[in-house]
Amino acid sequence: MKIRKLQHHEIPPYDLLLLADPSYELVEAYIADGECYVYEENDDIIGVFVIVPLSEVTVEIKNIAVSENRRGQGIGKKLLQEAIKVAKSSSYEEIEIGTGNSSIGQLALYQKCGFRISDVIKDFFVLHYDEVIMENGIQCVDMIRLRMKI
Ligand code: ACO
Repeated sequence: MKIRKLQHHEIPPYDLLLLADPSYELVEAYIADGECYVYEENDDIIGVFVIVPLSEVTVEIKNIAVSENRRGQGIGKKLLQEAIKVAKSSSYEEIEIGTGNSSIGQLALYQKCGFRISDVIKDFFVLHYDEVIMENGIQCVDMIRLRMKI
């Protein structure tokens, strides 16, 4: 397995990116501003993350996803750890990530990796997405923001 930066001429793995964020328009916009990294096994891309600078000191993981049939095997954690390593080596001082109030597993994963809840953006998913998003029997309404000093 290998985690590598996607080159500018390569097409981003939209099938994976849209698993984390159903808005093609939003994904397109932040990919243009950031860097996309992929997790490859035998030339197959099975994981992805996108980091975007928010300021000179802060970077955000805008998207992280693993192929459905490869989840629960530690790949998400490896991708998060790599994102933190990349941010650190680029001299950022903190890293942020945002997810929905209904994303129970993701909230567990991010906190296990050292992120702490910093903010809640009320109604974010109602205001920015056309469709109703449901997960774990909960409507995704608010964005939970998490942050870590690196
Ligand atoms: N309760 C407690 N812990 C949980 C739960 C839960 N419900 N769900 C997952 N975890 C823990 C696991 O136990 C594991 O911890 P451990 O190593 O201590 O056992 C940890 O989370 C991570 O497990 P991994 O196997 O590394 O994660 P995985 O490879 O399945 O990837 C990911 C996680 C990327 C979130 C994957 O499920 C995915 O692609 N989901 C769909 C897309 C998505 O929702 N992406 C995030 C959206 S937010 C954003 O992109 C910024």
